[in-house]
Amino acid sequence: MEQRDSEAAPPTLGIGMVGYAFMGAAHSQGWRTVGRVFDLPLRPVLAAIGGRDAAAVRAAADRHGWAAAETDWRALVTRDDVQLVDVCTPGDSHAEIAIAALEAGKHVLCEKPLANSVAEAEAMASAAERAAARGQVAMVGFNYRRVPAIAYARRLIADGRLGALRHVRVTYLQDWLVDPEFPLTWRLEREHAGSGALGDLGAHAVDLAQYLAGEPLVGVSALTETFVRERPLLAGASTGLSASGGAARGQVTVDDAALFTGRLASGALASFEATRMASGRKNALRLEINGELGSLAFDLERLNELSFHDNTEPAASAGFRRILVTEADHPYLAAWWPPGHALGYEHTFTHQAHDLVHAIAEGTAPAPSFAEGLQVQRVLAAVEESAEKNAVYTPIPL
Ligand SMILES: NC(=O)c1ccc[n+]([C@@H]2O[C@H](COP(=O)([O-])OP(=O)(O)OC[C@H]3O[C@@H](n4cnc5c(N)ncnc54)[C@H](O)[C@@H]3O)[C@@H](O)[C@H]2O)c1
Repeated sequence: MEQRDSEAAPPTLGIGMVGYAFMGAAHSQGWRTVGRVFDLPLRPVLAAIGGRDAAAVRAAADRHGWAAAETDWRALVTRDDVQLVDVCTPGDSHAEIAIAALEAGKHVLCEKPLANSVAEAEAMASAAERAAARGQVAMVGFNYRRVPAIAYARRLIADGRLGALRHVRVTYLQDWLVDPEFPLTWRLEREHAGSGALGDLGAHAVDLAQYLAGEPLVGVSALTETFVRERPLLAGASTGLSASGGAARGQVTVDDAALFTGRLASGALASFEATRMASGRKNALRLEINGELGSLAFDLERLNELSFHDNTEPAASAGFRRILVTEADHPYLAAWWPPGHALGYEHTFTHQAHDLVHAIAEGTAPAPSFAEGLQVQRVLAAVEESAEKNAVYTPIPL
């Protein structure tokens, strides 16, 4: 790797990250990579990583390339060498950590969903607004916006290539809960996760629908279900989607699946399905958008591809065609490999870091903001409210 001339090196941006398991590893990779792939106005430095267990957090620091390890996130968010706090913990600690970091004068990146409740998300959005007046930025980790094919789909829609939108259809299907013996990790407990497939997968689906359409949902009608209501209690630690259980059992307190329809502000209709019970579907985030001039379709399991049907072409030769989104003039691609040399899941975290570093250096508001994260939270709350009333149409407060 080329040695940088220290005279010409950009100023540094010290990162402090809390949580070091699934998202901790993914974000570490993003922070490690971003300055070596893109020319950045600030150079991210992996200053400190935080967790609760001293030996485990030290091991994570060594593995992922962080200089210091902290066992108290409060100490991490006030370190002088940290200018940005990256929150990679379960939802029950997002509000406390993010608000403390903002009040300590730091920029914040917070994993999705922004919080476990609308009240927490409101407090976070207020703290972010106060911090913005002091020149700080806050962003939510809806990383799928940074898949090049998704960012390109947004560009096509914003350019009017689909015309007026009629349908936005998003399904996010996984299957790691099909086995009733899969243990009760934090993702299955309301006090830690806020909700189940809804907040875990549905939050991404809602964010993408609104981002791509460029407009908010105004109301929803929903059904949710918990198919397996009791599971083995955890035996030991869990990481991401891996865990093992013991003999004792406990109550599942979140949904296994959520299905809902919605209306977008323009009158377009949307439909959503979020489940961790779809056998054979590993990370199938699929979407299709139909407009008066054309349609787009995408599947995260083939994330370098975007399907586009241009309805203005002669009917005889029109049809869905596959765009391989690896050209230099596709979003983010100029910095990567030659056309056809595909990207993967982890690149979304590098792109997320790229966009956030630019926003900080340029003093612009990054997207998705905490205000956008709060609005997604309001949609999730409306889905739960509607499901409790057997799918009664529930407006989403502005
Ligand atoms: N953007 C995505 O694609 C994506 C994917 C998975 C998870 N997530 C989100 O990322 C967050 C973390 O999920 P994960 O899969 O990495 O979970 P995980 O269980 O793999 O890791 C959680 C980490 O947080 C630490 N932790 C938990 N409570 C803590 C506390 N109070 N103080 C300090 N550390 C604490 C744990 O020790 C662990 O290191 C969640 O909000 C989740 O919804 C996002």
